[in-house]
Amino acid sequence: MSENILIELRGLTKRYGYGDTESFALKDFDLTIKRGEFIMIMGPSGCGKTTLLNIIGLLDRATRGEFFLNGENVASISARRQARLRAKKIGFVFQNFNLIEDLPILENVALPMVYTGYSKTRRLKQASNTLSRFHLQEREYYLPYQLSGGQQQRVAIARAIVNNPEIILADEPTGNLDSRSSHIVMEELKAIHDEGNTIIMVTHNPSLTVYATRVINMLDGQIDTDVKTVADHNLPQPISVKIKKKKKDNFETLIDNTPKKPRKRKKARRKK
Ligand SMILES: Nc1ncnc2c1ncn2[C@@H]1O[C@H](COP(=O)(O)OP(=O)(O)O)[C@@H](O)[C@H]1O
Ligand SMILES: [Mg+2]
Repeated sequence: MSENILIELRGLTKRYGYGDTESFALKDFDLTIKRGEFIMIMGPSGCGKTTLLNIIGLLDRATRGEFFLNGENVASISARRQARLRAKKIGFVFQNFNLIEDLPILENVALPMVYTGYSKTRRLKQASNTLSRFHLQEREYYLPYQLSGGQQQRVAIARAIVNNPEIILADEPTGNLDSRSSHIVMEELKAIHDEGNTIIMVTHNPSLTVYATRVINMLDGQIDTDVKTVADHNLPQPISVKIKKKKKDNFETLIDNTPKKPRKRKKARRKK
């Protein structure tokens, strides 16, 4: 399998109900996704878009079929392992932002890092760095309701990328926003994509497809049309490769994803 292949779905089927009530949200769905693609998924309500995103995001399971993530078949791994992979590799953005209302936005953004083992200070610092990229650092102690919808969605995007996941999944992220806020949110997603991240986004708004490198139209749980607007060799390179070559000063404003072991570092310092 090519190294650039991030996701491979083979014969993916999601069935609801049995007998008379049987219906298929996805039917023998095949899809190969390369690193660096920005895929927009469109199609009528009920055609299976959210089901597809939830399965790719390891929030749901297919009834049958194969799902390879980085070459590993993850279709039937344990729920625990699913959760761990999800926390590490996937960032979600939802239509209704899904922020926790009684947590300051800084802590909302820090939430996905609970599984990293980092200290709380480190998590909040990383969240703060990520928020600054969205020009929301000065509001980090605001509660979600104190922000506009567009700002809340930018907080949600900050939360989605704080762990530097491999895949960002967005289910109608501009569905609740006015056109100006939609534009700002799309520019943020574009910047994240330009850094080499893979984004899969559901939208009903055809004018947003200018941001995509590939547009998939779904119908009745299957792919109706699939159009690539950017050739595979022109997809952006993953930023993680670039980061390793760069010094930290360039990188402060991005996402700090360098693996560190704070305890060992402290001990080393004490010895000096
Ligand atoms: N929990 C469920 N139980 C039964 N049917 C469901 C369930 N979730 C989704 N469906 C059905 O699966 C189909 C696809 O749903 P969904 O993926 O939400 O579509 P979309 O996001 O494209 O609007 C729909 O017909 C929907 O009614
Ligand atoms: Mg949906």
